[in-house]
Amino acid sequence: MNYQTLNSGHKLPMVGLGLWKIEKDSCAQTIVSAVESGYRHFDSACDYGNEQEAGKGLHEVMTQGIRREDLWITSKLWNTYHRAEHVRPALLKTLQDLQLDYLDLYHMHFPIALKFVEFELRYPPEWVYEPEANQPRMELDAVPLIETWQAMEALVEEGLVRAIGVCNFGAALLRDLLASAKIRPSVLQIELHPYLCQKNLLRFCTKEAIAVTGFSPLGAQSYFQLNMAEAGDAVIEQPSIREIAKAHTRTPAQIVLRWGIQRGVSIVPKTSNPERLQENIALFDFQLSDSEMEAINSLDCHRRFNDPADFGPAAFNTFVPIYD
Ligand SMILES: NC(=O)c1ccc[n+]([C@@H]2O[C@H](COP(=O)([O-])OP(=O)(O)OC[C@H]3O[C@@H](n4cnc5c(N)ncnc54)[C@H](OP(=O)(O)O)[C@@H]3O)[C@@H](O)[C@H]2O)c1
Repeated sequence: MNYQTLNSGHKLPMVGLGLWKIEKDSCAQTIVSAVESGYRHFDSACDYGNEQEAGKGLHEVMTQGIRREDLWITSKLWNTYHRAEHVRPALLKTLQDLQLDYLDLYHMHFPIALKFVEFELRYPPEWVYEPEANQPRMELDAVPLIETWQAMEALVEEGLVRAIGVCNFGAALLRDLLASAKIRPSVLQIELHPYLCQKNLLRFCTKEAIAVTGFSPLGAQSYFQLNMAEAGDAVIEQPSIREIAKAHTRTPAQIVLRWGIQRGVSIVPKTSNPERLQENIALFDFQLSDSEMEAINSLDCHRRFNDPADFGPAAFNTFVPIYD
């Protein structure tokens, strides 16, 4: 496994397992199998609804001899907990569910603040404020991002999290955050795949010493089951990717994932399939040539699969653009 050294000094494993959409009943076992396959980095979130099950898996691997300091656990603050007074309780709930006493990395999940939902009323609260209403929709809350960030900084100072970061921010929001942050974001987590290369944002992060993690590194694959992508959108079916895969006797998915880490970003592919767990981490014994990297870069068509401006109105009756 290769690592990326963060501006906090900590070492982030370049490949982690994404836990979004891993079913509760298989989550603990998937974590155990992942550790057996060599994974040490897990990408969790309150919103994934499986942190208790992930915690069982983490507990199990630690009773089998894996040390806490050998694992890298990321989680994310949900949108309903942006007010300063809710940040610490949200983190404590995540730590309790994951059976941990600290996180390696805590992200702000979206630059979207939603109205607070009591922990006892619904957890995770998800996107809509009143799911039982006639027309369920999101209720936005006017919380400045810096208020949330300062409460996250306090978690670092308290030793509850090692590093803090943000997801789904663009350069303008990052620049604003950097202007007032006491602790700089260590990691930006964003959608990254050959159809959405985000070259300028990566360049900005390199300049500012912010590491980048790519989510949905396989592109459309994650979005078929959500009806947010169609068969023709599959990056791994692209003829040039298939050709490169053939030349390296690797799978198209491995080519796309290797392209990701070879750009210098960490990735967190998700799979619930034991063979793919091994496939998705076997990326360090081959290299793509400059011309192969260039051919994959040229597939960029700025196609974003995970955009609140699209899924907000379609699924939650609420228009909340963040990238426009
Ligand atoms: N910060 C954010 O806002 C945000 C948003 C989205 C995702 N994420 C994080 O990023 C992680 C990864 O993103 P993602 O889950 O959206 O997408 P992904 O990892 O790119 O793709 C996952 C999908 O690809 C399939 N797959 C996995 N390995 C494969 C392979 N080798 N060949 C063919 N298909 C394969 C999986 O199916 P099987 O399970 O059946 O293998 C699943 O349907 C998430 O789990 C989550 O941790 C973060």
